[in-house]
Amino acid sequence: MLLTGEEERMLSGAEGRAVGKGMQLIVALGEVFGAERLVRITSAQIAGVSYGNIGDAGLELLEDWASAGARVRVKATLNPAGMDLERWREMGVGEEYYGKQIRIIKAFERMGVETTCTCTPYLAGNLPSFGDHIAWSESSAVVYANSVLGARTNREGGPSALAAALTGRTPLYGLHLDEGRRATAIVEVGAELRSPHEFSLLGYAVGMRMGAGVPFFEGIKRAEVEDLKILSAALAASGGIGMFHMKGVTPEARFQDTAGLERILVSAQDLEKARERLSSHGEPDLACIGCPHCSVKELAEIARILEGRRVRAGKGLWVWTSRAAYDEAKRRGYVQAIEAAGGKVFADTCMVVCPLEASGFSHMVTNSCKAAHYVPSTSGMGASVRSLESAVSEVLEG
Ligand code: F3S
Repeated sequence: MLLTGEEERMLSGAEGRAVGKGMQLIVALGEVFGAERLVRITSAQIAGVSYGNIGDAGLELLEDWASAGARVRVKATLNPAGMDLERWREMGVGEEYYGKQIRIIKAFERMGVETTCTCTPYLAGNLPSFGDHIAWSESSAVVYANSVLGARTNREGGPSALAAALTGRTPLYGLHLDEGRRATAIVEVGAELRSPHEFSLLGYAVGMRMGAGVPFFEGIKRAEVEDLKILSAALAASGGIGMFHMKGVTPEARFQDTAGLERILVSAQDLEKARERLSSHGEPDLACIGCPHCSVKELAEIARILEGRRVRAGKGLWVWTSRAAYDEAKRRGYVQAIEAAGGKVFADTCMVVCPLEASGFSHMVTNSCKAAHYVPSTSGMGASVRSLESAVSEVLEG
């Protein structure tokens, strides 16, 4: 692979041990995927933050790199941690877990990473421009950034995103190149999509059907940020999809030549099948909303649903969002409205990366297919998917 003089210098370790290791990883990845060279990036989104996921080995590595003076060269933000950094006790998180999670956050901070702890960095100040090369490792944000923003990133892992942040480079292959971004199948949507939940079902059904590739959606009349973020999450959960185009909605759709592509029809029955596949038997006792993290608009919607109603005794309503959206929603009174009705709004973490089993609940109901896909394996709980209104209503009185 062709490296510049500066990149060779990083690789040799002359700019520090961590930069050297980071560059080794970037170069090794580039060689595996046949990249001819590296490309400069403008931002990184780093996953692998939860202590529950990376454990003591990950914590020690991060502290070692931070102590060795490693510093990021581009704007770098963090994925959700394993707990709300302020209200961790209310989640059932223990002292030891708390202590180790805080050490992880501090290590990232010492390296210059912004400790945003959200999977919606694009709603929290990390908003790349059209055409920017970036290295993001949150799969839902990868799909959103490629498709909706027109930025360019492969589906990075936590270590490769951190390595990219420390070197300012990523290998030039896959979704960084025009050919990797071309539509590979037309998805004709024959169902009416009336809510983000239905976009989630669509994403899950298409991810299962295609597995990989770049779907080109036709037949969707309008889509808002909340629809596109939950669609992105579901496409990446059931398949290995890193990008989609949507006719009349996403910026690169008009450049696509779709003549001769395979045509996939998705009907209302296909959405129903996705819902059934993700729903296990059992009575839900915990409604979880916020996968990906809720926007301020979604927090307002939950507050509206709760007007004049209360969470039933023995049930829970846990809502997940970024610290940035939490603060804004608190300023507008939505957090107070949700909590006055018996719900809880947590920031910095989510139902998949926190130890949800410590909540004491046994069956989660959600509007997000990604959450329902992962929660049974990460926490051992049952899961069901419904619309936002019916998931929330499931745990309310009356
Ligand atoms: Fe975000 Fe957690 Fe879902 S990271 S996309 S809320 S699984």
